[in-house]
Amino acid sequence: MSFKEQILLGIPDELPLVKIYDTSVNHAPRRKDILNDPEKNLALKNALRYFDQKHHRTLLPEFRNELETYGRIYMYRFMPDYKIYARPVEDYPGNCLQAKSIMLMIQNNLNPDVAQHPQELIIYGGNGAVFQNWAQYLLVMQYLAQMEEDQTLAIYSGHPMGLFPSHKNAPKVVVTNGMMIPNYSKPDHWEKYNALGVTQYGQMTAGSFMYIGPQGIVHGTTITVLNAGRKIAKNNEDLSGKLFVTSGLGGMSGAQPKAGNIAGCITICAEVNLKAVNTRFSQGWVDIIISDLKELTQFVLKAKENKEVVSIAYHGNIVEVWEHFDKENIYIDLGTDQTSLHNPWAGGYYPVGMSYEAANEMMVENPEQFKEKVRESLCRQTDAINKHSVKGTYFFDYGNAFLLEASRADAKIYKNEKGGFVSASYFEKGADEDIPFAYQSYVQDIMGPLCFDYGFGPFRWVCASGNEADLDKTDEIAASVLEKLKTSAPKEIQSQLQDNIHWIKNAKKNKLVVGSKARILYADAVGRIEIAKAFNDAITAGKIGPVILGRDHHDVSGTDSPYRETSNIYDGSKFTSDMAIQNVIGDSFRGATWVSIHNGGGVGWGEVVNGGFGMVLDGSKESEYKLKSMLFWDVNNGLARRSWARNDEAIFSIKRAMEQEPKLKITLPNIVKDSLFLD
Ligand SMILES: NC(=O)c1ccc[n+]([C@@H]2O[C@H](COP(=O)([O-])OP(=O)(O)OC[C@H]3O[C@@H](n4cnc5c(N)ncnc54)[C@H](O)[C@@H]3O)[C@@H](O)[C@H]2O)c1
Repeated sequence: MSFKEQILLGIPDELPLVKIYDTSVNHAPRRKDILNDPEKNLALKNALRYFDQKHHRTLLPEFRNELETYGRIYMYRFMPDYKIYARPVEDYPGNCLQAKSIMLMIQNNLNPDVAQHPQELIIYGGNGAVFQNWAQYLLVMQYLAQMEEDQTLAIYSGHPMGLFPSHKNAPKVVVTNGMMIPNYSKPDHWEKYNALGVTQYGQMTAGSFMYIGPQGIVHGTTITVLNAGRKIAKNNEDLSGKLFVTSGLGGMSGAQPKAGNIAGCITICAEVNLKAVNTRFSQGWVDIIISDLKELTQFVLKAKENKEVVSIAYHGNIVEVWEHFDKENIYIDLGTDQTSLHNPWAGGYYPVGMSYEAANEMMVENPEQFKEKVRESLCRQTDAINKHSVKGTYFFDYGNAFLLEASRADAKIYKNEKGGFVSASYFEKGADEDIPFAYQSYVQDIMGPLCFDYGFGPFRWVCASGNEADLDKTDEIAASVLEKLKTSAPKEIQSQLQDNIHWIKNAKKNKLVVGSKARILYADAVGRIEIAKAFNDAITAGKIGPVILGRDHHDVSGTDSPYRETSNIYDGSKFTSDMAIQNVIGDSFRGATWVSIHNGGGVGWGEVVNGGFGMVLDGSKESEYKLKSMLFWDVNNGLARRSWARNDEAIFSIKRAMEQEPKLKITLPNIVKDSLFLD
């Protein structure tokens, strides 16, 4: 049967053969056994409703076994036999370009070269899912192949509710992931309702079909390290000879050594999982592996002396590095952490003093003891970081919930009136109350004021033809648009434009394209619109094929996340999520091809609401109208909110946008003088 025929078949009427569990593939960890017996039966009933009754007796024991063994029902038997990867868009069956483009993006996410645990449909971050099971995948692909231009597919946490009549300009797909009644949004609610098969953790670009592999994260991390370097520079000097210490060589964290090399510093990245160390080393993303602290010390001292640009994977626990370098008095210029603390109890963070294997066993066999070990480790890590910070290290939270989880562990992550480090209990308040941490998050200090408040964020595109030549042409187009904009841009955004011109001109050389022919750069509203318009013109002229636009959710407007994207909002509204909801609604009626809104992503379930879009450009006049309308809103919605929160850079940016577009009328804040409160 051809690929197209298999897609059109959906869930096959005849059961496919049982699949052998492939141990050569990276699999999701066994999930918590959280359901009681009646709930397990409910999970099984939920899973079986995808199949004809005649198959229930065969599938019941099989699904029960999956639930007992892995904690979830993935329906491995239904994994397709064809290769899953982003094919040229015309290879997909279907009635409209938009639906075929969405199939391309879904398959790109699930490509085993791109996805973290492809057989469990997990793309990154350990739990970022596209679908909960293979039946959902088969049904969604079938619906997309059948879809007419005037229909919309509603997807609830991976489950396709069905095709609904809509209209030609409506989004073709509306995705919601993990949306919960707010009181049911604690981590164990995810474990339970995901095990029941009724919700999923979509992360950000995973459940919205917009993940493009490591390129996005390498670019974002490079921008962060470069701007962090600007922050600590005393005389405008660059990062050469400076030491950057961090952890994690996983899905996103694995970008750090590569980004450190592009930014030009010495990077140490600690990682407990040897598999992850070897993967990044074999990809050439990290230059050398060291497993001994003494050897690490000697190597770093020499690298500092020679101002080498080099990245080191330390195979071991990050706490050891912080503590040892304090003892040896090795100066760390920049420090952060990228363990998966958004998921602290189920493999996101490995406590110091025990092996990787022992930790994996304890988290399942004795979860309470494991939690205690994690807390102790976070306290030790924080103490060591505090000692370095007193010596001058600039430490920032990298959006992985390090500060939040350290505070919950009662680590000394706050400062008292005298500047001494104290834990939450000092304030006689709970850790989750809004006490400022001793350190800032990378968004508070770096990405917020230098990028998001000027509208700069992660704009990306995919060449739907699958042709390398199209990608080269779009690189050239984007570079020339940014260069032109730079000639008349205000001084406030010159360095952001320059960083991205440099990036896009070298992007091909960095060889970061995995899967679809995709590219990323940071641009503001004007930049995004001008680049997209130039692409649309090139499509009209027949120079390139269709282009799919999108972005990371880690952006100006799409995400409300009080410890990350909106952590530099200081009017109290960072704990609200109106912006993310407004954003996705606004995108959906301004021309997005698909939209998505998620609970959870990056910092954890219940900690963030984030959304995104995809938009297919086909060279038509409608495409031009839609891109202008939607991209303008997609950035300026967030700038309006950031400006209302009194962020100077955002006030500057939104005033500029109003000058450019007379129909934009924004409520501006009146600044209240602090002296008013001194009387
Ligand atoms: N890179 C970014 O721009 C960015 C932005 C925001 C958030 N994040 C966050 O960063 C975190 C990491 O993301 P990821 O996709 O790499 O997750 P991941 O789970 O794939 O990787 C984390 C790695 O940390 C390792 N690790 C855990 N505890 C350790 C310890 N104590 N010492 C050394 N290594 C340890 C794990 O073995 C794992 O390989 C997530 O919480 C994510 O949300 C990253």
